[in-house]
Amino acid sequence: MQQDLTMPPDPDSGAIRFLLGGHPVVERAVDPDCTVLEYLRRRRGLCGSKEGCAEGDCGACTVVIAERAPGGVALKAVNSCIQFVPALDGKALYTVEHLAAEGKLHPVQQAMVDCHGSQCGFCTPGFVMSLWALYVAHRATGSRPPDAEVRSALAGNLCRCTGYRPILAAAQHMFELPAVAFDLAALQAALDKLARDAPLAYAYAGRHFHAPRDLPHLLALRAQYPQATLLAGGTDVGLWVNKQLRRLDHIIYLGGLEQLEAISDVDGHIRIGAGAKLEAAYAALCAHYPQLFEMWQRFASRPIRNAGTLGGNVANGSPIGDSMPALLALGAQLRLTNRARTRVLPLENFYLGYQKKDLAADEILLAIDVPLPGPHLEFRTYKVAKRYDSDISAVCAAFALELDANGTIGSARVAYGGMAATPARAPQAEAALAGRPWCEHTVRGAMRALARDYAPIADMRASSAYRMQTAQNLLYRMYLETRPDAPLTAAETSVHAN
Ligand SMILES: Cc1cc2nc3c(=O)[nH]c(=O)nc-3n(C[C@H](O)[C@H](O)[C@H](O)COP(=O)(O)OP(=O)(O)OC[C@H]3O[C@@H](n4cnc5c(N)ncnc54)[C@H](O)[C@@H]3O)c2cc1C
Ligand code: FES
Ligand code: FES
Repeated sequence: MQQDLTMPPDPDSGAIRFLLGGHPVVERAVDPDCTVLEYLRRRRGLCGSKEGCAEGDCGACTVVIAERAPGGVALKAVNSCIQFVPALDGKALYTVEHLAAEGKLHPVQQAMVDCHGSQCGFCTPGFVMSLWALYVAHRATGSRPPDAEVRSALAGNLCRCTGYRPILAAAQHMFELPAVAFDLAALQAALDKLARDAPLAYAYAGRHFHAPRDLPHLLALRAQYPQATLLAGGTDVGLWVNKQLRRLDHIIYLGGLEQLEAISDVDGHIRIGAGAKLEAAYAALCAHYPQLFEMWQRFASRPIRNAGTLGGNVANGSPIGDSMPALLALGAQLRLTNRARTRVLPLENFYLGYQKKDLAADEILLAIDVPLPGPHLEFRTYKVAKRYDSDISAVCAAFALELDANGTIGSARVAYGGMAATPARAPQAEAALAGRPWCEHTVRGAMRALARDYAPIADMRASSAYRMQTAQNLLYRMYLETRPDAPLTAAETSVHAN
C-alpha cells in the first residue's frame, strides 16, 4: 500500500482532516450527519464498500479506522453506514480499495480467491476489511488467530451465497501467503501530526458538529447547547439518521476524550468511562466477572463493539439493551456530571420510564462504577435471542446472589431486559430469594414471583408468555449451575442459553 502521510498544516479549526488510504484529506463541505459510507460512494467514487442494511447488521460496508491509542495506534473494523464523516477527524480510514498494491492483491484478498470465499461478491469487501484488521493485528505480533477469534471477528459479516467455511479457510490461508507489512510506525507519526489541541468546531449549511478536546469544554458545550445530540459511537444515533430519516442539526461528539474513555479500579469498583468502547469495557469487566464473556461475544458484533460505548448503551436505555441487567444485578452506580457538580446515582434510579431518564439537559454520563466481586458472590447473566451472533435480545437476565457457607442466600439482585419498559430489577423475586436456602423450593418460589414483577410485551422477538417462561427458566438455569449439592458440570453449562 502506497501511503503519502504528509499532512498540510491545519489551516483552520473548522475543517475535517483525516487520512484516506494513507493520503491526507481536508473536508469543509460535508453534512455533519453524512455517513462515511455515503461519503465514500458518492463523494469519493469509492464504491467497493457496499450498502446492505444501512443499520450496522450485515457488514457489507465494513471499513477500517485507525486512531491514536495508548501505546501506539489501533486499527479497528467498523460499519461505515452508521459512522458520520466529521467523527473521522484526526483518524485514518481504509477501504477495500486501499489493500492491493502494485497490481497485486493483498494476501487477505488472494486468500479469499484461493479459498473460493466469494460468489456474488456483495459481502466480500466487508469480509476482506474485517479480515484485514485481523491480519494487521496478528502480523504486528507474529501470531495466528485461533479459530474462535476469527469467528468473533467475522460475526458481523453476513454472506447469503458462499457459506462461511471457505471464508474461515481464507482467514487461515492469508497467513500462509507471502507476508505484506503495514507500516504502523509511519501511520502513528502521521496521526501524531494530524492531532490537534484545539477542538473541532465544524459547520456546514447551518448545521454544526463540535468535537471538544477536554471535559470542561464538553460540559460548557452541553450547557450552551442542551438540545444538541450527544454522539458517542453512533451505533444507536446512526440509525436515527438512516432509519428514522432524522436530520441532526447540532452534534456534540464525545469521541477521543481520554477522560471519558479511561477504565480503572477505584475504591473497590471498576470505573468505566462512559466513552469506553464496548470491546474495552467488556474486556475490563470480564477480567473480574468471567461470567460475562458470552454476553461480550454476543453483544452485537466486533465492528459495533469497536465503535459503540458502554455509556451509550446505558444512556440510550433500551429495554432490550444487553449491559443493563448485569450492571443492575451487580449494583452499578452512574456518575453524572455537569459544569457545577458530579452526582452518583444507582443505575436502577436512572430509568424513569420508556425512554425517560434522570439526566438533566446540561448533564452527561461520565462513568459507570461496577463493584468488584465479593468472595461469596454467585453471578450469572444470559441472553436469549433468535440468532446466537449479532442479534438483539428477546430476554436478557442477570442474577447476583450472596451465598453463605451453608448455602443460604444473603442478598439477591435479579434484573432483566426485555421484560418491561426499561431494564428493571425484580423486587418480588428478590424478596422470595433473600434469607432463604438456595434450593429447589426457593427457586420455584422466586420463579412464581417473577410473574408479579413483570407483565412483558409481545412483539416480533417473542410473545409475552414466551418471555415470562424464558425469564423463569433462566433463573432455574442459574440454580442448576450453582446449586450447592450438584451443580451442572462445565460441559453441561457450555450449552448455549438460546
Ligand atoms: C447492528 C447493531 C447491533 C446491536 N446489537 C446490540 C446488542 O446486541 N445489545 C445491545 O444492548 N445493543 C445493541 N445495539 C445497540 C448499540 O450498539 C448500543 O446501545 C451501544 O452501546 C450504543 O453506544 P454508542 O456509543 O454507539 O451510542 P450512540 O449511538 O452514540 O448514543 C446512544 C444514545 O446515548 C446518548 N449518549 C451517548 N453517550 C452519552 C453520555 N456519555 N452521556 C449522555 N448521553 C450519552 C446519545 O445521545 C444517544 O441518545 C446494536 C446496534 C446495532 C446497530
Ligand atoms: S450496510 Fe449493513 S452493516 Fe452497514
Ligand atoms: S458472496 Fe454473495 S453475499 Fe456473500
